[in-house]
Amino acid sequence: MTELKLSIDKDVIDEYQGPVPKHIGVIMDGNGRWARERGMMRIRGHHAGAKTVRTIVESCRYLGCQALTLYAFSAQNWGRPEDEVKGLMSLFDLYIKKERKTILDNGIQLRVIGKRARLGPKLIKAIEGLEEVSRHNSDMVLQVAVSYGGREEILRAAKEIARLAKEEDLDLDDINEEMFSSKMYSPDLPDPELIIRTSGEFRVSNFLTWQSAYSEFYVSDLYWPDFNEQEFVKGLNSFGGRERRFGKTGEQVKNEVSS
Ligand code: FPP
Repeated sequence: MTELKLSIDKDVIDEYQGPVPKHIGVIMDGNGRWARERGMMRIRGHHAGAKTVRTIVESCRYLGCQALTLYAFSAQNWGRPEDEVKGLMSLFDLYIKKERKTILDNGIQLRVIGKRARLGPKLIKAIEGLEEVSRHNSDMVLQVAVSYGGREEILRAAKEIARLAKEEDLDLDDINEEMFSSKMYSPDLPDPELIIRTSGEFRVSNFLTWQSAYSEFYVSDLYWPDFNEQEFVKGLNSFGGRERRFGKTGEQVKNEVSS
């Protein structure tokens, strides 16, 4: 186990005594509104949001989560104004350089999921460099979804399965949920147990569409740049207090726990 070097308020995280989600997904929303309400350019909100990224990454690492997936840029975000897209791409590049040490010092493995070919050679090189050096880290996976869409990920899997059926005699009876899951970007990760969305919006927005079938949702009213350890613990407490039934009855679940 790596000795942790973290800058978060650990006492706040220690207040949470419930079950730790193996995988947490976060839809980081509200950067633009945060900036606009302060009379700033939207990109300033994204820069402020990058600081919150550090807080949530460290909090999840401290808590002992196996994986954290952050929705940083959707396939649909390419339609935003050119200067905002450029600013975000520069910010991702800066993040990789600035957070390299924190990621490596804390045994975190970085993965970027999505259509990376659109990101440009410089950013791709930076991503692949950090993915490579952090590849053997096993304390937590930090998965950043960039140029990502849940439907696109499902389509990509469906095309690969169609190819196997056409070219390698895959039997249709062998196509099941487990096999389909194995064609997703990160088949080794458990599905997210908790998905947090900030800025009070109740939408999934094409995030982990396949994997979120049974995820619990927590919606925070705070804009992403204001999200912090306290609000994270609120989300965890909400998750910890829920009964997860996976389609069964409450009585069945209670009997399973007590047997
Ligand atoms: C959504 O808020 C946020 C984004 C599209 C970008 C998220 C990016 C970051 C938090 C930057 C740092 C991330 C990493 C991984 C370094 P919005 O712009 O849609 O906000 P709005 O709904 O208020 O307009």
